[in-house]
Amino acid sequence: MPHEPYFPAKSSAVTMTRWQAVQRLELEFWSKWSTLALYRNLDVPNYWEQELAQFGFTWEGFRGLLVLDVGCGPIGLIHYLDHAAERICVDQLLTQYVRQRPLQGRQFSISAMGELLPLAARSVDLASCFNALGHMLDPDAALDEIARVLNLGGTALLMIHTFPGWLRPFYWIDRIHPHHYTAEAFVAKVKKRFGIEGLLTIKRSFDLPPVRWLSPSCWKYIAADMVVASTYIRASRAAWREPHV
Ligand SMILES: C[S@@+](CC[C@H](N)C(=O)[O-])C[C@H]1O[C@@H](n2cnc3c(N)ncnc32)[C@H](O)[C@@H]1O
Repeated sequence: MPHEPYFPAKSSAVTMTRWQAVQRLELEFWSKWSTLALYRNLDVPNYWEQELAQFGFTWEGFRGLLVLDVGCGPIGLIHYLDHAAERICVDQLLTQYVRQRPLQGRQFSISAMGELLPLAARSVDLASCFNALGHMLDPDAALDEIARVLNLGGTALLMIHTFPGWLRPFYWIDRIHPHHYTAEAFVAKVKKRFGIEGLLTIKRSFDLPPVRWLSPSCWKYIAADMVVASTYIRASRAAWREPHV
């Protein structure tokens, strides 16, 4: 399904030129990720199981649900949820990812913007948006959309990389993230739209063999290892909270 153009209206948006540059980096990364030292031996299902645990969630929690993954990438969490009743994969690059994990059962893959989801209001039981909001054109618009399409009482699993505030003058060096948030700023955004049920911020660690630390191509991981965290939020779309405008 082709995506409609989205014209950013929120102050959280970066320019289209900046975001398109990020999307080119994204495509480049996903064309070679499995050859990179950091990911070469990655057991992907095991990785997702561990990430789910950070939300206080398990595979069983998806059984029988209509699940949406916004910014799912080619091997996102949703690709491993064979027991969900129905799966909706949304990513603006979906048609360009050449090696996606094939899906079985009832599923829809939509090449669309998270900021303008082509889904009815209150139509989804669980929405995940994993390491994608910080890469988007307009994260506030995407959060509004996730809140709009979630059923009342539905669950949102949200994760972004977060950064210390003192690093702000250097955020620009990190080209793959057009948006940088401290954990506190991200939590405040989510609270405007959802009830927070679980929250965890942990330092990100890059699991490279020590010998790799000598290679200049890995030095960016040394720097990231010192400052980048992951913030996981399990949230619910409470009946009393309308999406923030
Ligand atoms: C770092 S990747 C994460 C992919 C996946 N969630 C995972 O953890 O493996 C970020 C993804 O967000 C997608 N993305 C970026 N901006 C988007 C937007 N405006 N709407 C939908 N997806 C977007 C990118 O195309 C990319 O696939």
